[in-house]
Amino acid sequence: MSDFPTEQKALDVLILAAGLGTRMRSDLAKVLHRLDGRPLINYVSRAATALAPQKIYIVIGHQGEDVKAAVLAELDDRQAAFVVQEKQLGTGDAVNSAREFLQGRDSTLLVLSGDVPMIRPETLAALVQQHHRHRGKGAACTILTVKLSDPTGYGRIVRDDAGLFERIVEQKDATDVIRQINEINSGIYCFDTQKLFAALLSVRNHNLQGEYYLTDVPSLMREAGEDVAIFPHSDSNEIEGVNNRAQLADLERILNRRTISKLMLDYGVTFIDAKSAHISTQAFIGRDTIIHPNVTIEGESVIADGCTIRSGTRITNSQVGHGVEILDNCVIVNSEIGNNCTVGPFAHLRGNSKMEEGSKVGNFVELKKTKLGRSSKANHLTYLGDATIGESTNIGAGTITCNFDGKKKHETHIGDNVKIGSDTMLVAPVTVGNGAVTGAGSVVTKDVEPDTLVAGVPARIKKNLKENSPGSNVGENG
Ligand code: UD1
Ligand code: CA
Repeated sequence: MSDFPTEQKALDVLILAAGLGTRMRSDLAKVLHRLDGRPLINYVSRAATALAPQKIYIVIGHQGEDVKAAVLAELDDRQAAFVVQEKQLGTGDAVNSAREFLQGRDSTLLVLSGDVPMIRPETLAALVQQHHRHRGKGAACTILTVKLSDPTGYGRIVRDDAGLFERIVEQKDATDVIRQINEINSGIYCFDTQKLFAALLSVRNHNLQGEYYLTDVPSLMREAGEDVAIFPHSDSNEIEGVNNRAQLADLERILNRRTISKLMLDYGVTFIDAKSAHISTQAFIGRDTIIHPNVTIEGESVIADGCTIRSGTRITNSQVGHGVEILDNCVIVNSEIGNNCTVGPFAHLRGNSKMEEGSKVGNFVELKKTKLGRSSKANHLTYLGDATIGESTNIGAGTITCNFDGKKKHETHIGDNVKIGSDTMLVAPVTVGNGAVTGAGSVVTKDVEPDTLVAGVPARIKKNLKENSPGSNVGENG
């Protein structure tokens, strides 16, 4: 026979996310500040989702609509419900603002802070389990605590002579003796929902901050003879709160260090300077790829095996095939680079550009919403926008697709085996057929037939290249 109640109470989650976060010194609500590119609130709501609660209630206030939008970007609106706290009168008041939705429920309420992003679902599950199993009948409250070498800023856990929970004292209200205590309140708790809302009625704001503290609830419960339990946790990184930018930077560094060491040890990636590279946790990098100093890889980027990424390059939400060499100072956003391509230095790919296998983009070349075909090259000083370029085509230095007429964007189509001469202006919409050649400085305003040489301003037909004649130098550049 088990000591535990056979039926566990249903679980609800409440996330506190209404505060502005004064200590951030920001116009942006704290929970919207980003860690590894994602708003803090999304880490907490995702961790909560993993427990499959009945519902996740989120207390919003400052920039509430934006917080709501951030959460709903990742979470189904059937899972989440939003509760508005009009005035931020403290964490106790924040919980109280959900009273009408929760007070009558026979459930367990897991309370989380929107500014404690690193908490893992496994830890939350263990907390809930201990809460339910406490003395065979469940506790009224279980507090997740941790010991910190520097507990400054956190609420301290005061235990009685028997080592049992007595009360939580906020940093600001603490005496020097209490400030010596290094066991802190993580701001993460499980409550018996009905007992929580009953106790909240007795919370007063007689403290230094004049706030209604949720942290007063456990001691009120204890005084009323209820069981208040502690769930001591060992990983202090997980409960680190973000109250200021220094703490946010610390978490960013912790995440980055973890990501890079995993890439080195489990995936075989070489980092020339692991300290200066910045790699998103959502990115993947393959075996024997070499990352030079000051490289940033953001979002859901994938870099395959055997690539070299040189210093100063940023890659955001892009895919890079194997054996690709990206030279210094490139910016690659929302784009795709095929196997064995070469990019840079100082190249810019954006707007769903695509380089096919073995193609090359060189110095000071920008591709916007452009496809560069297999083995084609654009080596120097070029803008290609809204263009489709075939295979084995060479785009000469200084080529520009004039894709914008002041009102609308137009497309340029260039075929296979084309030679676009240096300084050619392609006035879109325009098509250059397979095997065509444009002379240096051509301004191409009309479609060019296949195998035709055009030159001049505006470019006119000079010859049909199929009728074999010795090639004249029209200023092509390779
Ligand atoms: C709180 C705890 C402290 C604990 C720490 C852990 C209280 C009184 N103190 O302190 O014991 O060690 O968390 O990180 O609870 N919020 C609202 N409405 C409000 C006030 C706050 O929604 O009126 C939200 C904030 O947006 C934030 C969370 O509650 O997400 C915590 O508030 P914060 O002011 O950061 O509390 P701490 O001072 O960190
Ligand atoms: Ca906090």
